[in-house]
Amino acid sequence: MKKVLIVCLGNICRSPMAEGLMGQYLADSPLQIKIDSAGTSRWEAGNPPHPGTQKILKEHGIDISQMFSRQITLEDFYAYDWILAMDQQNLTDLKQMAPKGTIGKLHLFLSVLPNSTIKDVPDPWFTGNFEETYALILQALPKWREVFER
Ligand code: 4NP
Repeated sequence: MKKVLIVCLGNICRSPMAEGLMGQYLADSPLQIKIDSAGTSRWEAGNPPHPGTQKILKEHGIDISQMFSRQITLEDFYAYDWILAMDQQNLTDLKQMAPKGTIGKLHLFLSVLPNSTIKDVPDPWFTGNFEETYALILQALPKWREVFER
């Protein structure tokens, strides 16, 4: 089984949104893929996804009310095959935490959209715009699917 961990700062807005969307998107994939998410911080540890994230996914038939925030652990760096950072600060933080030999697993979530001028998935915690974040995550999913199925 291949394993993907999606990481943002709080693990309540962007990464649970991407986890829920990717799970739905890959549901019919012939590959067995485990998808999880985590935060670089533990500020929101134990909390459910932000109401705005839950609402927009619910509108698209995805229930993530049972998820809760957790901070990434050292074991995660070994356990997962891909660790996808929602923005460049998350990637910098992950690089500082990553044990030797695991840095190659780290990627920027939007790196699969090389022509995009947007490098960071905008954080609705600050922007209040869950739709924009949703649309951008959606754009990257077919590309990640290609990578995982390669
Ligand atoms: P996220 O958004 O990283 O997309 O989950 C945030 C959630 C919480 C905080 C910051 C960003 N916070 O400062 O608690």
